[in-house]
Amino acid sequence: MSATQPLSDVFAQYDTLLNRYREFWQLEAFAQSEWPWPQSAAEIDALIAPALSKLANPVAATSAKLERESPFWLTNGIQGRKLAQINGFIAEFSKHASCHTTEDPIHQVIEWCAGKGHLGRILSFQQQIPVLSVEWQANLCEQGQALAFQHSVAQEFLHANVMHLPHNWLPTNSAIVALHACGDLHRQLLELACSQGKRELFVAPCCYHLQQAELYQPLSQQAQQSALSLSRSQLKLAVQEQVTGGKRVAKLRDIEQLWRLVFDLYRAQITGITTYRSLPSVSKHWFSGELSAFIRWACEQQALPVLADSVINALIPKAHERLALIRSIDNIRQLFRRPLELWLLLDRALFLQEQNYAVRLQQFCAHHESPRNTLIIAKHQVVSS
Ligand SMILES: C[S@@+](CC[C@H](N)C(=O)[O-])C[C@H]1O[C@@H](n2cnc3c(N)ncnc32)[C@H](O)[C@@H]1O
Repeated sequence: MSATQPLSDVFAQYDTLLNRYREFWQLEAFAQSEWPWPQSAAEIDALIAPALSKLANPVAATSAKLERESPFWLTNGIQGRKLAQINGFIAEFSKHASCHTTEDPIHQVIEWCAGKGHLGRILSFQQQIPVLSVEWQANLCEQGQALAFQHSVAQEFLHANVMHLPHNWLPTNSAIVALHACGDLHRQLLELACSQGKRELFVAPCCYHLQQAELYQPLSQQAQQSALSLSRSQLKLAVQEQVTGGKRVAKLRDIEQLWRLVFDLYRAQITGITTYRSLPSVSKHWFSGELSAFIRWACEQQALPVLADSVINALIPKAHERLALIRSIDNIRQLFRRPLELWLLLDRALFLQEQNYAVRLQQFCAHHESPRNTLIIAKHQVVSS
């Protein structure tokens, strides 16, 4: 992390890069049927690599460790990567939160979009602090409450939709933790916290594209002045990387992409319309089945006739070619994935700074444990008059 550089300067660097090279990432790879740029991949790489290498990294590397391991009965049933994320999160929390300070300590932790509240349960146990976990799905609240009760942990659940909480709902002297709250859900937290101030926030955002608005609405004044306009599908790039899931998942994803392209070619052949039209998402089980069944389903979706298997099979070599093209285009787009994610993280950080929060961007777990491994730590500052 570049400790000396103000976050607004770092944001400006990312903003300039993303704007200057937008032709290389603001396009949909799947919709392309030919190489979209005059330069070759190697030429584009040579053009962009020096600019990327000059960008400051505003995220502090993880350094905190849990002081003591949680007992096995408390973490039972939490899969390995999730537990590593939770432990890393709590280690940073215990290093930075004002729980046990004598001056104006935190009395309670609110866990935002808690799921079963694993983070809240372990945090309450480790830090000896009451936790209120807010979650929308009643069955997750019930399961979480039962676990807290079973282990005598000071954790309560509030079954609520965070989007409908009153504006003055967040209690004062609370720290709010959010592990992997998607787009609008963590945005709502930042807006509520800023309308009241006097809090500590520990927010690990994810899925920036999960928002109601079609276009991204920047939070900070600086990002509001940016020339970047981001659609939901462009926002998706920020989280589009595959580090998890293993070989089987990767194989199914390859088959899915190939079959979707076979269908696209088929559609183009019988309708004469060559612009790409996406199909709805489907369960992955389709892709361990038969191509012909998938095509029948896809034809139903777009009210197209189903022709003989031989017509469809003849399109497979062309679909392979198209897939190779899309992968090459995606490799170029991927160069901008991390800059876009940092642009979005910095927008949140700058927004909090504008509302008198001192902000730190902090890595809290290894990339292989979660690619969404940046924590926004924000403490409200008392403004002296
Ligand atoms: C990605 S999960 C994260 C869960 C947990 N924090 C974790 O890291 O395992 C997001 C959670 O937000 C909950 N959620 C979604 N929309 C919500 C809303 N409007 N109000 C409250 N919770 C919501 C979901 O039910 C889900 O449990």
